[in-house]
Amino acid sequence: MLSSTLLRASRSPRARRAVETIPASRRVVSRFVAGEQPSDAVAATLELARTGRTATIDVLGEDVRDDAGARRTRDAYLALVTALAAAGAQPATDLSLKLSALGQAIPRDGAARSLEHARQICASAAEHGFTVTLDMEDHTTVDATLAAGEELRRDFAFVGNVLQSNLRRTSGDIEQLGSSSTRLRLVKGAYREPESVAFARKWEVDEAYAHDVTALFASSCYPMIATHDAAMLAHAVDEAARHDHPAWETQMLYGIATSLQQDAVAEGRHLRVYVPVGTDWYGYFMRRLAERPANVAFFLRALTSR
Ligand code: FDA
Repeated sequence: MLSSTLLRASRSPRARRAVETIPASRRVVSRFVAGEQPSDAVAATLELARTGRTATIDVLGEDVRDDAGARRTRDAYLALVTALAAAGAQPATDLSLKLSALGQAIPRDGAARSLEHARQICASAAEHGFTVTLDMEDHTTVDATLAAGEELRRDFAFVGNVLQSNLRRTSGDIEQLGSSSTRLRLVKGAYREPESVAFARKWEVDEAYAHDVTALFASSCYPMIATHDAAMLAHAVDEAARHDHPAWETQMLYGIATSLQQDAVAEGRHLRVYVPVGTDWYGYFMRRLAERPANVAFFLRALTSR
């Protein structure tokens, strides 16, 4: 109930104005967001490398409806790639793109525009050996985002897609992509979805996630297991061993489950951290609050303290 209210609020301009103007919001946001500038992303990436982790960087933003805004997002990524390269970031560094921030929802030709912007980012990433992953947004965008991934992979084999286990269609999507070597990030799903397309109960989503992990390790894709759920991580380790899968990685969000992150590194697993940067943090922040009631309590405490 609380979670679905927060997810509804994540799409409300009125709630956005209210939350963004509360000074305490920024203090709480800094737990989940690495900073506002490309230099903050670079610093976080270098710090992760120092502690045995790699990064995937998200320039915050979504639901951009005008071409100028979409071009601003593209330019922010291009500036980020330049800054990462200048700082000597490891070639394994990844960029996470939301096609809606690159103009996917612009009427008439949004899909083509966002694809072109993503292509320009991929070309720049390729020059430095970086990779790109297309984040997955709500279920209405899945077909278009998978199609964009397929199109981009014709020129840039390193482009990955994300699949959400809360969606009923996902096991079919894994089957579809299963004979390719696509980099596939598997998540539980962070968006509010109708029951016609998504599992509503947490145990159903968990069961689907475990099933999808098994299917992913049985495929020839490169699995990117993105979760903070210790049981799912243990299941992934077992499945990787059972299928003798040559390469895979675990992914977690910046500022979340840091002890699990340390465990993964100590056990010699490849751990990538999703690092959000930028000023457009509202939607991302509200989804993180919705995932865990304790985060709401933390936020409320920050509101009442000085
Ligand atoms: P679950 O929600 O069951 O949480 C397991 C445990 O993790 C909790 O008990 C708690 O301890 C901890 N935890 C989880 N969320 C927390 C939070 N916000 N704060 C503190 N602790 C928390 N989604 C999507 O729809 N599209 C996408 O492209 C992506 N991309 C993405 C990349 C990466 C690297 C990750 C890790 C996640 C995503 N997600 C995503 C988000 C994903 O769908 C999901 O909402 C979150 O990962 C939370 O689900 P868990 O798998 O962690 O399990």
